[in-house]
Amino acid sequence: MGNKNKLLPFIKKIIYENCGDVIDSFCDLFAGTGSVSQAFNNKHTKIISNDQLISNYFPLCTFLLNNDSDITNVQEKIKYLNSLKPKANNYFSLRYGGTFYTLDNAKKIGLIRNAIDKISDSHSEKQILVTSLMYAMDKIANTVGHYDAYRKSMNYTKPIKLRLPKLEKKVINHNNVILNEDANTAVKKVKSDVLYLDPPYNSRHYCDAYHLLENVAIWKKLPTFGKAEKIDRKHIKSRYCFKDASIVFEELIMNAKAKHIFLSYNSTRNSRHGRSNSKISDYAIKKILTKKGKLRIFETSHPEFTTGKSVSNSEHVERLFYCKVM
Ligand SMILES: C[S@@+](CC[C@H](N)C(=O)[O-])C[C@H]1O[C@@H](n2cnc3c(N)ncnc32)[C@H](O)[C@@H]1O
Repeated sequence: MGNKNKLLPFIKKIIYENCGDVIDSFCDLFAGTGSVSQAFNNKHTKIISNDQLISNYFPLCTFLLNNDSDITNVQEKIKYLNSLKPKANNYFSLRYGGTFYTLDNAKKIGLIRNAIDKISDSHSEKQILVTSLMYAMDKIANTVGHYDAYRKSMNYTKPIKLRLPKLEKKVINHNNVILNEDANTAVKKVKSDVLYLDPPYNSRHYCDAYHLLENVAIWKKLPTFGKAEKIDRKHIKSRYCFKDASIVFEELIMNAKAKHIFLSYNSTRNSRHGRSNSKISDYAIKKILTKKGKLRIFETSHPEFTTGKSVSNSEHVERLFYCKVM
């Protein structure tokens, strides 16, 4: 949800054109899957990547840190995890078996996640193995792509299979930093040439959509609630999804220490589904960014993300706000 993969050529072009070919440091405060961080990741650029969800933090560490885990060792462990044969029910299968996953897959996921905690020799190894598990889970989830709900009929019956994540050790800058904090806290600690911001823009919380992966990443066997068996998410609700998002955004911009600030922000205002409407108006964005520097807005047409309910708008334009800090 909100992944910027398709927009990367546009984002890269605008950022490199305005900041030069060599960027010393690039900070991605709402990094999500890390697609934008990875697009700027090279030996010469220090990447600072942050997301408040642990289910994003683990993959960010896996793909962006030059950790010392031995790949052959990790490969062996993945082979072992794939060979496990589940029998009894466990924490995971009792909650998500027969709904989000087939009962067999759910039992195996629970068994694998328990085993990861036992066999990991280091934090980084655990992060890689949990990332491998979450990616494999996503492929066989009985959903429409997020975990707010499951499909009525069980459509994904393939057995789960973990793979070794593609680790790009050679191109990773040794100074990269990955954080797992609220963006408004993280911003006070970092300084960078480029600050890229991709906050949620409507009232759909990422912690609601990805509660299940978050539960697996945390693995404290927390109580779950409701039809979708969600964990308590009060502490990870994003302030960018509420109506006073512009106040939170202004606070972040005022605390930012960067030469160039880029913001991806969707402009949906009058959607039939109120939850899809953006929380910060263009007027507020322009006012806030103009206080910090000189503003330009770049646009490209891009198919809008829909949850399957709203009609996709072919006129939709995706914007990148650029503030050259003065
Ligand atoms: C639009 S997505 C980012 C997508 C990302 N650019 C990509 O290409 O995958 C927004 C991300 O911000 C995170 N997030 C939301 N509110 C946050 C906050 N207050 N602090 C840190 N991260 C937050 C969400 O967990 C989500 O991963």
